[in-house]
Amino acid sequence: MQVGVFIPIANNGWLISTTSPQFKPSFDLNKAVVERAERYGMDFALSMIKLRGFGGASQFWDYNLESFTLMAGLAAVTSRIQLFATCSVLTLPPPLAARMAVTIDSISHGRFGLNMITGWQEKEYSQMGIWPGEAHHLRRYDYCAEYVTIMRELWDTGRSDFRGDFFQMDDCRCLPMPTARIPIICAGQSDKGTEFAARFADYNFCSSFGVNTPGAVAPSAARLVEANRLTGRDCGALVVMMVIAEATQAEAEAKWEHYRNGIDMEAMGWRQAQAEKDPTTDKYAAAGRFTEKLRNRMPTMHGALVGSYEQVAALLDEYATIPGVRGVMLTFDEFVSGMDKFGQFIQPLMRSRAHMAAAA
Ligand SMILES: Cc1cc2nc3c(=O)[nH]c(=O)nc-3n(C[C@H](O)[C@H](O)[C@H](O)COP(=O)(O)O)c2cc1C
Repeated sequence: MQVGVFIPIANNGWLISTTSPQFKPSFDLNKAVVERAERYGMDFALSMIKLRGFGGASQFWDYNLESFTLMAGLAAVTSRIQLFATCSVLTLPPPLAARMAVTIDSISHGRFGLNMITGWQEKEYSQMGIWPGEAHHLRRYDYCAEYVTIMRELWDTGRSDFRGDFFQMDDCRCLPMPTARIPIICAGQSDKGTEFAARFADYNFCSSFGVNTPGAVAPSAARLVEANRLTGRDCGALVVMMVIAEATQAEAEAKWEHYRNGIDMEAMGWRQAQAEKDPTTDKYAAAGRFTEKLRNRMPTMHGALVGSYEQVAALLDEYATIPGVRGVMLTFDEFVSGMDKFGQFIQPLMRSRAHMAAAA
């Protein structure tokens, strides 16, 4: 099973709480995390793009670095790990994003890939006058399909004459071509998002919708497996999970409880209000994903594995057995110490990472 890290490009990582570690993002912090990822043999590191935070007392995600430039810097100081930046399709013309990707392919010597996102939080874009309007929600994956098609044409042939509903290329050129195939990740949960991933992506993030047991992700991975059957492709599911692990279950649970006591309800409310602007009726789409009950007890947007090192290792191994799941992408409450705990105490216990011990 592949293991990656969702690096802390924004303040406070993925805990929407006033009692969790409060920190600002920096290149040095992300470098420390990715250096550890390489040291412990992790497969990939990915940064998101977020252009507007959720505010609240914790100023959640109000501080954000930019994804391509961060990954370009990290590419220069690493040598083995696969690096993914996130491409927000509303912000960049596809040939420019394609050229930025080729540049990081060159810096990293073929270790670069892209996470494609269509945008779900209107304010990120309306604040700079580039939100296309509500219709974007309904056609956002059609837009993304044209976008990726142009990028692939440029990467594969150096030129594009693509003409679609959203983009018209006119003998568009992009050289040099990348030195290695640029993999695409996607995070669609809706039917359209899942179908997009099965058509264009190498990996899709599959969600357990905030439930902390590995089995909860199985239906989402199964939807991707079915979508793959229809496209004849083999897009793998990746599960994003927070790890809060300590030597004993009691210590880890005490930390989790402490973070839960400080849930930043104002920031949660902002997130929810933005998500509810999506008129898509698809029950898997972003809007309505977080029930009030969940918001009251879950300070993170994805699930959390809370327990002793042994318990977390066993849970991670369970993910590896779910049909369609190709890997996990981890977040931590405290990233630097969390990476060390993963590398030193958790990974050595994982059957699904036995190849790491063999390599060492
Ligand atoms: C692991 C992961 C990473 C994501 N990264 C971003 C991101 O960087 N920026 C963003 O605006 N949305 C991001 N999203 C949101 C997704 O792109 C997507 O909009 C969301 O999962 C809802 O799926 P849907 O578009 O099919 O409704 C991410 C989601 C996941 C699960």
